[in-house]
Parts: sequence; structure tokens; C-alpha cells
Amino acid sequence: MSQRFYITTPIYYVNDKPHIGHTYTTVLADVIARHRRMLGQDVYFLTGTDEHGQKIEKTAAARGMTPKALADEVMPNFQNLWQRMEITHDYFVRTTDAAHKAVIQERFRQLAATSDIYKATYKGLYSVSDEAYVTETQAKEMQAQGLAHQLVELEEESYFFRLSSYENWLIQLYEQYPEFVQPDFRLNEVKQFVSPGGELGHLQDLSISRTSISWGIPVPGDDRHVVYVWFDALLNYLSACREGFWPPTVQLVGKDILRFHAIYWPAFLMAMFREAGDDLAGPLPVRIREQLPHTILAHGWWLMGDDKMSKSKGNVVRPEELLRFGNDAVRFFFMREMQVGLDRSFSFEGFMDRLNADLANGLGNLASRTLSMLQRYRAGVVPTAAVLDALDQEVLEAGRTVVPAYLAKAEANDFQGALDLLWTYLRHLDGYIVKAEPWKLAKDPGSQDRLDTVLCQLYRALRATAILVAPVMPGLAQQLWAGLGLAGQVADQRFQTFQYEAPAPAPVQEPSPLFQRIDKESIMQEDAIPAPAAPAVVDEAPLDLPPVKDLIEYDTFALMDLRVGQVLTAERVPKSKKLIKMTVDMGLETRTILGGIGTAYAPEELVNRKVVVVANLAPRPLMGTMSHGMLLAASDNNSKPYLVSPPEDAKPGFVVR
Ligand code: MSP
Repeated sequence: MSQRFYITTPIYYVNDKPHIGHTYTTVLADVIARHRRMLGQDVYFLTGTDEHGQKIEKTAAARGMTPKALADEVMPNFQNLWQRMEITHDYFVRTTDAAHKAVIQERFRQLAATSDIYKATYKGLYSVSDEAYVTETQAKEMQAQGLAHQLVELEEESYFFRLSSYENWLIQLYEQYPEFVQPDFRLNEVKQFVSPGGELGHLQDLSISRTSISWGIPVPGDDRHVVYVWFDALLNYLSACREGFWPPTVQLVGKDILRFHAIYWPAFLMAMFREAGDDLAGPLPVRIREQLPHTILAHGWWLMGDDKMSKSKGNVVRPEELLRFGNDAVRFFFMREMQVGLDRSFSFEGFMDRLNADLANGLGNLASRTLSMLQRYRAGVVPTAAVLDALDQEVLEAGRTVVPAYLAKAEANDFQGALDLLWTYLRHLDGYIVKAEPWKLAKDPGSQDRLDTVLCQLYRALRATAILVAPVMPGLAQQLWAGLGLAGQVADQRFQTFQYEAPAPAPVQEPSPLFQRIDKESIMQEDAIPAPAAPAVVDEAPLDLPPVKDLIEYDTFALMDLRVGQVLTAERVPKSKKLIKMTVDMGLETRTILGGIGTAYAPEELVNRKVVVVANLAPRPLMGTMSHGMLLAASDNNSKPYLVSPPEDAKPGFVVR
């Protein structure tokens, strides 16, 4: 029987559409799932949406709709995106599914019957953004980060999960089974949390019901309470598991939700799987360990600059913006750039550079050169390598080792390392072509054997690349596979039976470009025009208001001449994302004014608009144009500028005083 492999992604909140952070997690899971299938394993891949809880309730209320209607509206954004990105999940779970609800209630009852769940009164500080009670240390941290407004003092009757009883077993889990959390430095973080001297100190029992929220699964037999969203959400992995696949092999999470997955989740499972005779103060039974997830794999964040990409910060990149360059390109970029576990800054320019370097040049170039040489010199028929000189021998050795080395990295879920290694090999082959000079060999009747060798080696390298990268770039790999004259689907190949040196079964085809080079310059120009802002389905970001400046006398204020103006024309300043050049009717005259409002307004939105202008500001040059005056706009330290508008019936030239 083939090995079972159960892989999960977190289930995504439905209060917003997916951004590239969510997309990354799902793509990584898909790459692992596809890779495992090509190892012949029997894979079950689960993803879905997390549809209960306060965040959804609040977002829905703000939009004047029911939470279920919101979930129904947002959920398809995930499903459609996953389809577009060729994600091969076997099941998509929603926490509002009846089957899921039934499991939550059944497990709640089970744990209440064993006293792992009990009812009491809880008083403490609650973080609204995390939907969790926080410890004193965490509360202090949040205050220090200026997040005090997210903390509220709550006192409520609650059901508790006896987390404290599982501390002993949890510590043994981390000590004896370090593969439980990967990468290892993330395991250390978890150990830190639960060690008695650590951030959480001894584990406290966990409140797992709410009376303050109504959008959730009712506690069986006490429907004033709904089940806490994390008890509800984490159990999706159980409720939506397919028969025969338990326990999970790899569970992907972002580092922000590692705590829930590495502490609460195994503790819930320990409580569910323990038997009457098990001693919670004794050794962790192997039988229990075997029912727990094998590995929680925690990845880092995509950042914008130094900030986490998140909708509340308004700095998210949507996958649609990248998918114009193709699904394979986006998947490759994620895997090639992000070392699992660490954070990485996203830049659009870096994205294009990577694709041009590795796909248009790199692999694309090597493939088209190889196929055209095979066509030109050998009518498409792949020769065998018969005579090898030292250079050929070196390339052959490198080729023989690259496949197992790649597979070993991939097995450890290190696709960044695996791809790095493979692309180093591809670069090596570019050097091989330069040194071997096949175009000269072609002209020399005495060098035909060597030419055979060079062509054969290039072919082998491309064939190995096609199979190795098939989980990462399914479309591109298939195109390369077919171009090499290989039949069937590359995804149906098995890594174990792949032979690097096997003879070519059929002639190769004419080359067709694998990846169209991106014209970065023109894209950057075009990119200076921001897409219309997506309708905001967002929680309000906390305001970041600067303190009021020092006092000034009235006379100082009176020096300023503020006037009503009306924008006559507006256009973007070339090569600038921010600046818009406007002509403004000021009543007495028409002025040219440059405003840094291009990320917030499109030029056509500005024409005819009435604005307030600082009329007596000394003119100054901006990007080669004199700007005579300044428009007033309102914002906090983070938000976009909102133009200050005078009343509609105010005339151009009116004095604002
Ligand atoms: N609903 C919970 C998960 C419950 S799992 C039982 C949740 N949802 S989420 O939609 O907010 O986030 C889902 C995943 O996306 C998390 O793993 C999170 O780390 C990941 N990402 C969100 N923003 C991210 C980045 N900027 N970068 C990378 N991943 C990030 O949490």
C-alpha cells in the first residue's frame, strides 16, 4: 500500500479577499502535494474557509448583511482563485458546513464528558484583533506596540478547556519529537512559550466559548454560548479528514498562527484520543503521539518594506496583479524567493527581475537553444553521449547528482533550496555551451561524437528539469516535456523511476518560447497608474495621528492665503507614481499646481473638482515643472490623502478664512 500523505492549509477568514500572503500558503501546500503524488504517495490535500467569529460578524454588520451572506459572497473568491492557480486540493471545507458543525458539537460533548471541558467565570483582557484572551505579558507587549485600543476587559461565563493538564505531555512532544514543528527555530519559539519561565508561564486553561458573540456554532445543550472560533476552526482538519488519512502529515501555517497549531491543537487532540488509564503526569504514550500531526510547518510573512502585508495596513498585493504574467510564473516566484520559515519583502520589480532572469533567460533560453541546435544539427533526433572529455564528464557528474540533491531538499520542504540548486546547474550548462562551442563542433566532421555528447547532455538536463519542476510550474513543465518529444503528462511520472541517462524515446519538437520576457520598463510606466482601489471590505486600521504642533499667533495664521480653486485639467507626471500636474482656476488667474496625490486619485477624478489651495505659497520646481501653490488634503500618518473639498456652491477665487 502506498504511503498516505495528509496535507492542510489554514482555513482563511472570509472577511476579505485573498492576498499574496494567503496565496503563498496555498501554493506551497499545492507544490508539496503534487511533489508527493509524483513520489507515488496517496495524498489528501485539504483547504477551506473559516467563516465564524467576531471578525466576520463585525465586517458583515458594517456592510449591512448577515455573516452567512458575507461568507457566501467572499468564499468563492478563494475557490475561484485556487482554480485559476491550478491548486489540486481534494476537498474545500467551510466551517458553516453542517457536517463540520456536527463534529464540533460531538467533540465538545466528548470533552465535556471527560471533564476536559468545564464551565466557570472568566475575567481578563481580551484582544479583539486576535480573538483571544491575552496574558499580562502579551497585554504589555501590545500596549508597547500602540495596540492598547484592541484590548478590552471582559468578564463572562465561559466553558474552559483544561489546557493546563496537557502541559506535561506537550513539553514531551516538543522534546522527544522535534519534527513536530519545523523549521527548528520555530520549535524553539513554541518551547519558549510553554516553558514554565517562558512567556506563557505554566499553561492556563483556555476559554473556549463566548456569550458575547452570536455568529458561531452553539455549545451543545447551552446555546447562550457559541464555540470559540479557534476550537471551531482547528477542528476542521479533523471534521474534513478523509477516512484512512488521519493523522495530518504536514500542516502549513503562517508564523502568526503557530501558537494555536502547536499548543492548543495538539492539546485538543490529546484530550480526544486519550484513554481512561492514561497518566497525564507520566510519559506521553507513543499511541497518542501517533494520532497527532506529524509536522506543523510554519512559514514567515510576505512583507511590504518592513511591514507585514495585511489588509488593515492597506498594503496588500493581490494575486490578480501578478497572475497577468501567468500562473506558473507566480508559483515559481513564491517557491524560488521565499525560504520557508523566514520573512521576505515583496517588490514588484524584484518579481519581474526574477522571472526574466530565471524563466525568460535561464531555463527558457537554454531550452530554446538546445531544441534549435538539436533541430539544426540532428534533425530533432537526440543522439547518445558516447565520447566524453573531462568537461563533459564534469557536467555528467553534476547532472547525476542534481536530481537526488533536488529531491532531498524537496523532501525537507525546502523548495527554495531545491530550485536554487537546480538553477545553479542550469547556469553551469550555459557555461558548458560557451566552453564546448557546439556551433564549431558542428562544422568539424571529426568532432561529431563530441557534438552528440554535448547535445545529449543538454537534453538530459532539460528533461530532468521538466520532471523536477512539474509540481512548481505544472504548465511550463508540461510544455517543456512535450517539447522534448516526451509523451503523456509529466505529472504522471514518478521520481523514483526517472532515469537521468535513459535514451530519448522520440525526436524533439521545434522550440517555442517557454516564458515571454517581461518588458519591465513599459510595465513600470503602466504601473504608475494605480488600479482603482478595491471596495474596502476591511476592518478600520487604527488611526496614527501626529500630535498637534506648537501654538502660533493669529497674525501668523493670517499670513496664509487659502483660496477655492477648480481643477481644469489633470495629468500624471511621467515617471512619478505620486505627482499629478493640474491647471487650476483660481478666480483671478489660472495656475499650474503639482500635487502628490497620484496614489489616491486618478487624473480623471480630479477634473472639475473644487479644491482648497494655499495660494501664496512660494512657487517651487517639482520634477522639472514649477508648481505654484498647494492643495490641502487630510490624512493621518498612514492613510492616503483625502482632498479637502469646499462646498459645491463656493466659487473659484473665494477666500477661505
Ligand atoms: N482563520 C485563521 C486560520 C485558522 S486555521 C485553523 C486565519 N486566517 S487568515 O486568513 O487570517 O490567515 C490565513 C493564513 O494566511 C495564515 O497562515 C497567515 O499566516 C497567512 N498570511 C496572512 N498574511 C500573510 C503574509 N503577509 N505573508 C504570508 N502569509 C500570511 O488566520
